[in-house]
Order: sequence, then C-alpha cells, then structure tokens
Amino acid sequence: MAQTQQGENNAVPVWDIPVRLFHWILVLLIAFSWLSNKMDWMTWHMYSGYTILTLVLFRILWGFVGSTHARFSDFICGPRALIAYVKTLPSRTAAKFAGHNPLGGISVVLILLCVLVQAGTGLFANDDIINEGPLYKHVSKALSDWLTTIHKYNFNVLLALIGVHVAAVLYYLVWKSENLIKPMFTGRKHLPAGVAPAPMRGVGLAVVLLALCAAAVWFIVNY
Ligand code: HEM
Ligand code: HEM
Repeated sequence: MAQTQQGENNAVPVWDIPVRLFHWILVLLIAFSWLSNKMDWMTWHMYSGYTILTLVLFRILWGFVGSTHARFSDFICGPRALIAYVKTLPSRTAAKFAGHNPLGGISVVLILLCVLVQAGTGLFANDDIINEGPLYKHVSKALSDWLTTIHKYNFNVLLALIGVHVAAVLYYLVWKSENLIKPMFTGRKHLPAGVAPAPMRGVGLAVVLLALCAAAVWFIVNY
C-alpha cells in the first residue's frame, strides 16, 4: 500500500479484472439477495447466496495469490501506518495510494468477513414455514434458529459497513476531489509520474480458483 509522492499523473493499472468483476457482481448480488428475500423468491435468494459465498471464498484466495494490490499483505497495515493515515483525513489533498488506503484496507476485511458470516449462517437458516438452508438438516432446530437470528441481525451490520464504505468513497470524491470509483471500472488510477505499474496476475489462475470455490460450495450445498 506504498504511499506515493505528489507529481505529474499517469494512469497505472491497479485493480485486475477479477477484483473489478468481483466487486460489481457482489454489489448486484447483495442487492438481489435483499430483494429476493423481500419478494419471497427464496429459491433465488439461496442461489444468490451460494454465488456470493463462492465469490467471497475466491476473493480470500485471491488476497493471497492475486495481483499486487489485491493481496491482503498490500493493504493490511499496523496501527502506526493507520494513525498516520487518519491524521491526513481532514486535509483536502488526497494522500495517494496505488491500492487500498489503510482505513480502506480494514473496511475491505470487515466487509468480506461480514458477507462470509451472512452467507454462512444462511446455509443453516430456516423461516419456520418452508424454507431451510441446505445445512439445516445437520443441526438442531435451536441452533438453526440462533443462526437465523444472526443471519437477520448481521444483515444490518453489513448495511452499516456498506453505508460507511460508500460514504468514504463519496468523501474522497467531494472533499478530496479524488474519484476512486472510476478505477474500480477501468482498473487504472492516475498516480504521480514515475510510479511503476504493479504486475498483474493472469486471469487463467483466477478462473481455476473460482472453479475450485464453486465446486467447494456445490459440495457443501449437496452433501
Ligand atoms: C453492496 C455494496 C458494496 C459492497 C459489499 C462493497 C464491497 C467492496 C469491497 C469488498 C471492496 C474491496 C475490493 C477488493 O479489493 O476486492 C470494495 C472496494 C471499493 N468499492 Fe465497494 N462495495 C459496495 C458498494 C460500492 C458502491 C455503491 C461504490 C461506488 C459508489 C463502491 C466503490 C468502491 C470503490 C471505489 C472501491 C475501491 C476503494 C479504494 O480505492 O480503496 N462500492 N468494495
Ligand atoms: C450474503 C448472502 C445473503 C444475504 C445478503 C442474505 C440476506 C437476507 C435477509 C436480509 C433476510 C431477511 C432477514 C429478516 O427477515 O430480517 C434473509 C432471510 C433468510 N435467508 Fe438470507 N441472505 C444471504 C444468504 C442466504 C443463504 C446462502 C441462504 C440459504 C441457503 C439464506 C437463507 C435465508 C432464509 C431461510 C431466510 C428466512 C429467515 C426468516 O424469514 O426467518 N440466505 N436473508
């Protein structure tokens, strides 16, 4: 997450295709999970949940073997770097980071964990009428009810994290005049001249890992 010096701009690739696809598909599917529950399309709610689970498992693996700025080691930092970064928050000049900034890194980890808990508890959930997650049969009714309660409350935690996340991105846009949203589409960030592009991982590896995660979720759901 090396902080870069101010200077002339050049558009450098920072977010690889798997990270960008992961992000925007996750956004759509979380919205769809909410909608499908509201509309009582529970079969679709579950399919959406399995896909989200696959994506998050993939993103965790990609956090170890993916492109430079996709890696956890690139954006998880110690308290010193975090405090130094927080001090720069009121300034109208954006401290430029090629990848996630230290606070953004924490929020990414929290969102991933929260989504994992949401999808994980859904597997054991029941609605006391007809709908049951595929792992319901492996636990007692009391445990399933408890996990269903977590499934309900955790969604509010997720909404709060998403609210803070979007507010932070808008704060950067309005207060610091830095558009972080465009790079999540294009993959490129305008960074000071001289910042060398970080190497990008091949998409082939991502496809293989995604297939492995999908197979793992299929196995969990069907056995
Ligand atoms: C369901 C809602 C959302 C969720 C769960 C979510 C989750 C995430 C996650 C997990 C990342 C890390 C990406 C990675 O490293 O793989 C991220 C980054 C990002 N998200 Fe979202 N996001 C949501 C909505 C949005 C929206 C609506 C916007 C645009 C307004 C947005 C803009 C961004 C940007 C710009 C980044 C990169 C931040 C940076 O430069 O460090 N997100 N988001
Ligand atoms: C990250 C993915 C998921 C999200 C965002 C999500 C979201 C939600 C929300 C918002 C509710 C309504 C809670 C309430 O009534 O207050 C709900 C209920 C439910 N979800 Fe999920 N869910 C996800 C994954 C899953 C999965 C994978 C399954 C099962 C395979 C599942 C099964 C259920 C069931 C059975 C209910 C009904 C609980 C009840 O009405 O008592 N969900 N989910």
